[in-house]
Amino acid sequence: MRRVADAGSRPDPFPLYAELRKDRVNVLADGSYALGRYEDVVALLHDPRISSDPHNATDPGSLTVIDNAPFIQRDPPDHDRLRAIATRYFGPPDSAGMVSGMEPEIRRFVDGLADALPSSGQADLVDQFAYPLPVSVICGLLGVPERDGAQFRSWTEGIVKGLDADAQEGTEDLVKRRNECELAMFGYVRDLADQHRQRPDGSMLSRLANDESADAMTELELATTSLLLLVAGHETTVNLTANGALTLLRHPWALDRLRGEPDWAIPLVEELLRYEPPVQYLPNRIALADIGVGATTIPKGARVTLLLAAASRDPERFADPDRFDPDRDDNEHLGFGSGIHYCFGAPLARIEAQVSLITLAGRLANPRLGADPPPYRPSPVLRGPVHLPVTYDRLLPR
Ligand code: HEM
Repeated sequence: MRRVADAGSRPDPFPLYAELRKDRVNVLADGSYALGRYEDVVALLHDPRISSDPHNATDPGSLTVIDNAPFIQRDPPDHDRLRAIATRYFGPPDSAGMVSGMEPEIRRFVDGLADALPSSGQADLVDQFAYPLPVSVICGLLGVPERDGAQFRSWTEGIVKGLDADAQEGTEDLVKRRNECELAMFGYVRDLADQHRQRPDGSMLSRLANDESADAMTELELATTSLLLLVAGHETTVNLTANGALTLLRHPWALDRLRGEPDWAIPLVEELLRYEPPVQYLPNRIALADIGVGATTIPKGARVTLLLAAASRDPERFADPDRFDPDRDDNEHLGFGSGIHYCFGAPLARIEAQVSLITLAGRLANPRLGADPPPYRPSPVLRGPVHLPVTYDRLLPR
């Protein structure tokens, strides 16, 4: 795992994952346990003896232990209660059509990003294309007024840069700025919820703030959940679009096919989630009891790392796993996790990535990668290019 974390492994960690799969359970120097076989990872994701709450760790190591954590870091029953309330205003059965209703706005925004690219020459598909969309989508979801969008984006950037900085030495200023941005955004979301109580609109935050049911979220829970949506839905989605653009540029036949067959974006994005997943592994699980896996016992209180990206390329589970093949018919990848913490925003992330990739394929004439591999973000967990320079002959009209 130390080699996985090395910056030099970022462009291609997959041979290292194959080694980790071979050993089944890898006991790491810091006392944690890493697993990469599909069968084991799925079993543990569904095992109630595995916790997401760092309070349960004998030695939490680099995990942040906080009270009033968002539901991604909680176990049942708190997790289930908070997730169920949030789901009421995000998806079926209560809010069917909420996510699909956002598609026209996503298309408009992505068209605008493409329109703003240079008419020919070079562009950075991360900064100029993949990066701005997710935060705008979350602003829309939360009902952040247009006039506060820029401020909100700047806090988000501070938080995201700070998250990246966790993987680096000498970046205390970035971590400090992250904490400041989190606090500021926290206060902002609380005030915004107040405003929504006075003047409700159809946004998710407004509906959460005006929820009068007996189990409604407290103010603190509302703010924590909003921050979670933002953090969980930002860099992950940026990386899916960027990893997707990179993979398409490496497989020009796929780019051509997408151009002529936009519906193919659906299986394409699923294959990207298997083949180049934005979340490589979950370093945050804790064993609540002694758990036997093969010949190894993971002791109660130990930290467990579940290697999603390794499992999604396990040859015992997927035929020819290192081949990029959007037409594979069996693709139960772990790109969005599995079990009770399965990605809450998956339907939204799928639409964002599909629309973005269809738009890129349709608008750039003869695109070529400016650097292969591109430079990567520091984080081995949230893996994706920090910049993706491309050259193209011309920007095509809509
Ligand atoms: C391509 C983009 C995305 C990827 C690859 C991704 C991946 C994941 C994964 C792997 C998990 C499981 C974490 C765990 O088991 O500990 C997760 C959970 C979560 N995701 Fe996503 N995500 C994406 C986009 C989004 C978006 C857009 C949102 C918000 C609108 C979002 C909100 C969440 C939340 C709230 C959780 C926690 C769920 C729970 O604890 O029950 N994600 N995501």
